[in-house]
Amino acid sequence: HSSCRLPCCRFQFWKRKGSAVTFACVMVLLAALSTLLFVDAIESWAVSMSRTKGVAGVWVGPGPPNRGFLSPPEEYLLMPSPLVCQRAKPYLIVMVTTAPAHWQARQVIRETWGEETEVRGRRVMTLFMVGQSLDPGLSKQLVAEARDHGDVVQGRFLDSYANLTLKTLSLLGWVHRFCREVPFVAKVDDDVLFNAGALLHYLNRNHRTESDLYLGRVHVRVPPKRKPTSRHYLPALGTAYILSRAAARKILQAASTLPLPDPLPPEDVFVGLSALEAGIVPHHCPLFSGGPGVPYSRCCYQAMVSVHHTSPEEMVRFWTEVHSIPPCSWLSMKASLGLCKVRALVGM
Ligand SMILES: *[C@@H]1O[C@H](CO)[C@@H](O)[C@H](O)[C@H]1NC(C)=O
Repeated sequence: HSSCRLPCCRFQFWKRKGSAVTFACVMVLLAALSTLLFVDAIESWAVSMSRTKGVAGVWVGPGPPNRGFLSPPEEYLLMPSPLVCQRAKPYLIVMVTTAPAHWQARQVIRETWGEETEVRGRRVMTLFMVGQSLDPGLSKQLVAEARDHGDVVQGRFLDSYANLTLKTLSLLGWVHRFCREVPFVAKVDDDVLFNAGALLHYLNRNHRTESDLYLGRVHVRVPPKRKPTSRHYLPALGTAYILSRAAARKILQAASTLPLPDPLPPEDVFVGLSALEAGIVPHHCPLFSGGPGVPYSRCCYQAMVSVHHTSPEEMVRFWTEVHSIPPCSWLSMKASLGLCKVRALVGM
């Protein structure tokens, strides 16, 4: 065609019948393939775009002044040796929030990912954070469990869903008091398949020098607000997140200046508010699961840092499979991650 001045028009194949269609098909295929391979980068970009609106003034509501969670040791009824961190010098401490009755979940974690104490040349320590039980039998069992394994921290509060905020404050307080030097703390629920190797790999590549790191899957919460008409939203992190030493300290400090209303705000909202107060911005990492479950596939799970809603039976099976066979290649990991993200979205 004489009016076509685009360079691509000069190619021979362009003039042949049908080749334009072929070319378009190839381009679409390539676009789909790169979307699949870089789904994590695309997701990070999309989340950062959706958060540029900023957060308006939020308000927790009236409540008694916070008793301050810079934790005297008598706040803890059970705990490992106060010297545990000085001896082990962990790089990452994983605090698993768990209920007294969830002994099976704890046992499975001890036998799977919690067993890892050396990951990518770094020391990792896993501890369990519980509250108090009203059931004397359970309380006794917990004392025995703590004695046998030395990995239970019990705070002085009633263990209930409504008190999850206290559990997080209590675990941050414990780390602040007894593990001052640990560079990173992870808060992980007891139904999460956690992959310290994938996390350390990600941290090495992305946030090596960040001091105020608050990392996980960012979701949006609507915190309590002064005026029902104003639209506030709060970025919060869910079932698993990572805090650097400085961020953990600042969040704990900010948390102790906020009132603790009754009922307590949900854990993610309270920590989100404290982070906001401390001027710490949550970072989104696409390798943390949230919302829809991530369908199992070996290479995808090798890439993911956390997968929630994992039953004890699945935890054993997935962990064994992910770790018993040679590691997946970069390409199969990327492709598998893309596929399982897409499957999670469409719910297959
Ligand atoms: C939370 O813990 C406190 C301290 O143990 C207790 O008094 C309170 O009843 C608990 N709240 C709920 C809703 O369980």
